[in-house]
Amino acid sequence: MFPIHRPRRLRQNASLRRMVQETVLNANDLIYPLFAVPGDAVAKEVVSMPGVYQLSVDKIVEEAKEVYDLGIPAIILFGIPKDKDNDATGAWHDCGIVQKAATAVKEAVPDLVVIADTCLCEYTPHGHCGYLETGDLVGRVLNDPTLELLKKTAVSQANAGADIIAPSGMMDGFVTTIRQALDEAGFENTPILSYAAKYSSGYYGPFRDAAESSPSYGDRRTYQMNPGNAIEAIKEIELDIAEGADMLMVKPALSYMDVIWRVKQATNLPVAAYNVSGEYSMVKAAALNGWIDEKKVTLETLTSFKRAGADLILTYHAKDAVRWLNEVSV
Ligand code: PBG
Ligand code: ZN
Repeated sequence: MFPIHRPRRLRQNASLRRMVQETVLNANDLIYPLFAVPGDAVAKEVVSMPGVYQLSVDKIVEEAKEVYDLGIPAIILFGIPKDKDNDATGAWHDCGIVQKAATAVKEAVPDLVVIADTCLCEYTPHGHCGYLETGDLVGRVLNDPTLELLKKTAVSQANAGADIIAPSGMMDGFVTTIRQALDEAGFENTPILSYAAKYSSGYYGPFRDAAESSPSYGDRRTYQMNPGNAIEAIKEIELDIAEGADMLMVKPALSYMDVIWRVKQATNLPVAAYNVSGEYSMVKAAALNGWIDEKKVTLETLTSFKRAGADLILTYHAKDAVRWLNEVSV
C-alpha cells in the first residue's frame, strides 16, 4: 500500500519549505556580547574565542555602529577593569569601564539598546560573583552584602546610560533589591533582565578568559544552579517574576533546551537564552578544522533555541548569523 500522507509534498522546493517553516530566526532576536577594556585602540582577540575581542571604548563604539547597522537591536556589555579589589570598585564606580562604554555607545548610537551585565566577578581579585566573608568562614560568598554592591552597580550603570540591567550573579533577592534601588534613583522605567536560571557550567570556560574572571579558588556551585535540576529553574523564575523581573534568562542554552521550554511554558515574560562561550568555541574549533559547516551549524543551533521557546538569544555568533541570514536563502 502506498502512503496517503506524504509530508514530503511540502518539502519539494525552497519556496514551499519557506511557506511552512514554523520558526524563523531574525536579527531582532539577537543580542551581541561585548567586552570592554581600558585603553585606546585596543582590540585583543580572545584566544579561546576566535572572532571575539576585548575592545577599548573607542573600538566598542565602532563595533556598536556595525551591530546596529546589521539590524541587531542590542548589545550586552561586560567590563575588564584596570584594577580589581574586594569591594569590586570597578563595578559600581561612575568611571567604571562598563559605565564609560555605555555612555559612549549611547552617545554614538542612541537607538541601540545597551544592556549592562551586573555582577562582581570581573571586578574582584578572587573572581567570585559576590562579596566574601573575611571572618571564620573565610572565602564564603555572602549574599546580602553582595546585594548592597549590586544596587550601587545597577544605579551607576543606569546613570551612565544603560537601557537594561542584567544581574548575573545568582544572589538571592537580587531582583527585588535592584528594582528598589533603580526606582529610588528615578529609573523606574529601566527594565531588569534577570539571569534567572543560570547553571554552574563547564561551558563558561572561554568567557572567563575573555572577562578575566575565573574564580581563584573553588567554584560557583553555592550560587549557580546544579545542572541536574530543571524543576528548580521554575522556582528560580517564579521568584524573579515575583521580585519584578521584566525578562528572564536561561543559561547556558544548548544543554538546557528543556529548561528553555519549561520556562517559556511557565511565563508570559520574554525569555532569553544565552548561547555561551563554550558553545561558541566548540563550533569555532570544529569549523576551523573543517569538521563542520559553521554557517549551517550556527543557524541551525540558533533557530533551535527559538524553537525551544527563546524569544531572544545572546550569542557571539550574532553578527555572522545576520550576515548569513541576509544572503539569498535557498
Ligand atoms: C558571571 C558570568 C558568566 C558568564 C557571564 N557572566 C559565567 C561565569 O563565569 O560563571 C558566562 C558567559 C559565557 O560563557 O559566554 N557572572
Ligand atoms: Zn559573576
